[in-house]
Amino acid sequence: MKNQDKIKQLINRREEAAMGGGQKRIDSQHKKGKYTARERIDLLLDEGSFEEFDMFVEHRSTNFGMDKQHFAGDGVITGHGTIDGRIVFLYSQDFTVFGGSLSETYAQKICKVMDMAMKVGAPIIGINDSGGARIQEGVNSLAGYAEIFQRNIMASGVIPQISAIFGPCAGGAVYSPALTDVVIMSDKTSYMFVTGPKVVKTVTGEIIETEDLGGASVHATKSGVAHFRADDEDEGIMLIRKALEFLPQNNLEDPIQTQCSDPIDRLNDELNEIIPENPSEAYDMKDIIYTIVDKQEFLEYQRHFAKNIITGFAKFDGFPVGIVANQPNYLAGVLDIDASRKAARFVRFCDAFNVPVITLVDVPGFLPGSRQEHGGIITHGAKLMFAYGEATVPKITITIRKSYGGAHDVMSSKQLRGDLNYAWPTAEIAVMGAKGAVEVLESRHVNKMTAEDAADYIAEKEKEYTDKFANPYEAAKFGYIDDVIEPRNTRFRIIRGLKTLAGKKETNPPKKHSNIPL
Ligand code: HXC
Repeated sequence: MKNQDKIKQLINRREEAAMGGGQKRIDSQHKKGKYTARERIDLLLDEGSFEEFDMFVEHRSTNFGMDKQHFAGDGVITGHGTIDGRIVFLYSQDFTVFGGSLSETYAQKICKVMDMAMKVGAPIIGINDSGGARIQEGVNSLAGYAEIFQRNIMASGVIPQISAIFGPCAGGAVYSPALTDVVIMSDKTSYMFVTGPKVVKTVTGEIIETEDLGGASVHATKSGVAHFRADDEDEGIMLIRKALEFLPQNNLEDPIQTQCSDPIDRLNDELNEIIPENPSEAYDMKDIIYTIVDKQEFLEYQRHFAKNIITGFAKFDGFPVGIVANQPNYLAGVLDIDASRKAARFVRFCDAFNVPVITLVDVPGFLPGSRQEHGGIITHGAKLMFAYGEATVPKITITIRKSYGGAHDVMSSKQLRGDLNYAWPTAEIAVMGAKGAVEVLESRHVNKMTAEDAADYIAEKEKEYTDKFANPYEAAKFGYIDDVIEPRNTRFRIIRGLKTLAGKKETNPPKKHSNIPL
């Protein structure tokens, strides 16, 4: 063959590989409202930056007539490119080739880019759209999954790992995304479950539709498996790019500070008025967050799950931070099992990637009751405490209003190595609320009184307790609060705090790893 023909052959082979499972299957993918694996890559990466690996890899199976069916690339597209100029590695599963199912060689392709990402110290992104293990390959396919899982585990806390689920993700395949830092699901076109509706029906008799069992909505609101539910794939892809803005390339680097046009000393007079006079009245903590962060931009993580606590990324003077905030607007901002799990994971995510944590506190305590106790609120609450106490990134805590009991300690208190602990004048930092305290302290006394006398006496004692303890100054007196600040200054005080703490160096004692109460 002449050299020119060899070049033509290369071009032809590339064109053929780019067609995946063929036009008919591509059309079918589009009909389902889905992009193809290659279209997703084009949308995700900076234009012209994609470089593909292993385009000519083929499977080695001969079972069930597989020796007669070969597609270049074998159902997954792998390689690297840039997002906002920063290197990322990625793989994108191609549903048009054997339903995107995973073979031995397909797994090897994914492992290769994962290994490269680790060597280079760059994020890895997986776009999932697959029928699971390639049935014709048997155990080789299972082994392939396990190779990927092991790499996910080793990469955890070293490089950011992002998973987008844009189609089926079922069986053991779900565990790769579950091991990663960010899971994004597209609404109505994706699902994740360990066993599908048919198996569920056979084993338990339960009849349930795919969407109700493992759709994006379920995982974003009920299970917490998905951190983001995107309206469609375009939004999902935008979310991948957005999430990376707040993260460094790897755990040895800091997140990147960007130019910020929002003045650092912007005063927000409205914050001086935001807390209702009635301490039982709710307000929206997100109003405070959007007011103080750069340009009102907040990327909320797990927005629809455990809404009594808010987690997400924002910037102050262009520097990325993670925000954890109780939400008085939902269940009074109480800490329960789901809220504790959600915030604990987020704090550890931030700490792993050197993202400072800003905590905004308005928490009445832990949610009481047998459901919570029997569900293990002790262990789950301990997770959040552990996460804060172990974190060595800069930690700034602002107590906005309530901070009671064990929940006070948990929410990035001074004694859990909070670096800067500020409070608004509206803060109430105490062992418990006035009502509960008076009930415990005075019940024996009150029992001997007439109902009328008792009511007056209780009101008087509650006032006494409130005057004494429902303020920030008791805590400030002991140095547990570094300063009581005017609410309108909060943005400036956080930015100055972050600058002050920029050189913070804190390490934990050497150990194999901690034994966080999982
Ligand atoms: C090989 C597969 C496949 C698989 C789909 N295909 N799944 N080939 N192995 N696992 C092929 C189909 O034969 C078909 O080929 C093409 O992909 C598209 O599939 P359709 O069924 O036509 O598509 P659709 O109707 O959209 O249904 C998608 C689906 C369904 C729901 C994913 O295909 C399905 O249920 N597949 C099997 C899922 C499964 O049981 N996987 C194994 C799970 S166990 P043609 O040639 O017609 O285009 C597992 C264990 C992992 O994954 C453990 C890890 C530890």
